[in-house]
Amino acid sequence: MPNQTILVTGANGEIGHGLIQYLAEQDGTKIVALDLHPLDETIQRKCHRMVIGDILDNGVLETLFSAHDFDTIFHLAALLSTRAERQPPLAHRVNVDGTLNLLEVAVTQSRLQGREIKFIYPSSIAVYGLPNLHIKQDAGKIKENAWTESRTMYGINKLYCEQLGRYYANFYRQLDVEVTKGRVDFRCLRFPGLISADTLPTGGTSDYAPEMLHHAAQDKPYACFVREDTRIPFMAMPDAITALLSLDSAAREKLSSHVYNVGAFNPSAGEIYGRIRRAFRDAAVTFSPDAKRQAIVDSWPGDVDDSAARADWGWQPAYDFERAFAEYLIPAVTRRYESPSGN
Ligand code: SER
Repeated sequence: MPNQTILVTGANGEIGHGLIQYLAEQDGTKIVALDLHPLDETIQRKCHRMVIGDILDNGVLETLFSAHDFDTIFHLAALLSTRAERQPPLAHRVNVDGTLNLLEVAVTQSRLQGREIKFIYPSSIAVYGLPNLHIKQDAGKIKENAWTESRTMYGINKLYCEQLGRYYANFYRQLDVEVTKGRVDFRCLRFPGLISADTLPTGGTSDYAPEMLHHAAQDKPYACFVREDTRIPFMAMPDAITALLSLDSAAREKLSSHVYNVGAFNPSAGEIYGRIRRAFRDAAVTFSPDAKRQAIVDSWPGDVDDSAARADWGWQPAYDFERAFAEYLIPAVTRRYESPSGN
C-alpha cells in the first residue's frame, strides 16, 4: 500500500497501536489518527496527523474528509462488549451511529471523486449467540451465517454494521436516477478475542486471557471471571494486524463475501493458565466465575470456521497457541514489565 492516505479511528486502542506500527513501516503511507484521547507518544510520532475528536461529531468528520483524500479507512473505534452491556444506548451511538457517520462521509467522498474508498471494519465473535453450552459444544467450528442471534448489545451492533457496510458497498442510494461511480469497498473481519503483549483491552468480555497474562507478568494475583473449562477462539495481536492488512490488500475479485471469520487457536481458560504458569511459575490465578459475564462467553463459539478467508485471500495465522506464547506474548510481556517505565 505505498503512497496511501489512511484514516485510523480508535487509534489509541489495542488494535490501533499494533496497526499503526505496521502501517508506519510502509513507504509513503500517511496515517491520520482519530481518537477521543491523545495518542501515546510512541504512536503519535508515526502519524502524519492526530486529531482528537469524536466519530459522533459530524463536524470533525467533515473537516477531516475535506482536508484529506483517504484511500483506506480502518474504523476501529468501538465500545467493547462488557462496557456496552453497562451503557447500551451509548454503545449503540458509538458503535452504530459512529459507523454510519463514517460510512456516509466515506461514500460522499468516493462519489464526489468517482473512486473507491476501502473501509476495513473489525467485527467480532460477539455477533454469534449460541443458546446453551450443549449446543455450543456440539456446534464445532461455526460458519459466518450460523447462530447469529447475539445476546449482547456489542454483538448486535457489530452484526448490524456488517449489514450496513454491505448496503453501502452495493446498494447505497439505489434509486438515484444517475449512476455514480464511486463507492465504499467494505471489508470486514470477525475477530476472536485478541491478546496483545503491549496493551490491555478495556471493557471486553474476552479480557480474561490478556488480564491473566499481564497480571502474571507483574507478579499480581488474578481472579479469572470465567470457569476453567471456558473455551473461545483467541488470536495474537500480530496475526490480527496481518489479517487486517491482508484483507485490505486482497484483490477485490477474489472476495466472495464482505465478512470473514478468522481463527488462530482456541484454548480453554484453564489451558491458558497452564501455559502462563510454565513461564511464570508463581502465577496465582483463581477461578471465580461471574455468572453474567460467563453467560456471555458461553454464548460465543468454541471455534470458528475460517475456510472462506483461507480460500479467498489466503488467511493463515502465523501463531498457534504454543508459538503465540513462546515467541510473542511471554518474551514481550516480560520485557514490558522489566523495563523501568513499563513500556
Ligand atoms: N474482545 C471482544 C470483547 O470481549 C469480543 O470480540 O468484547
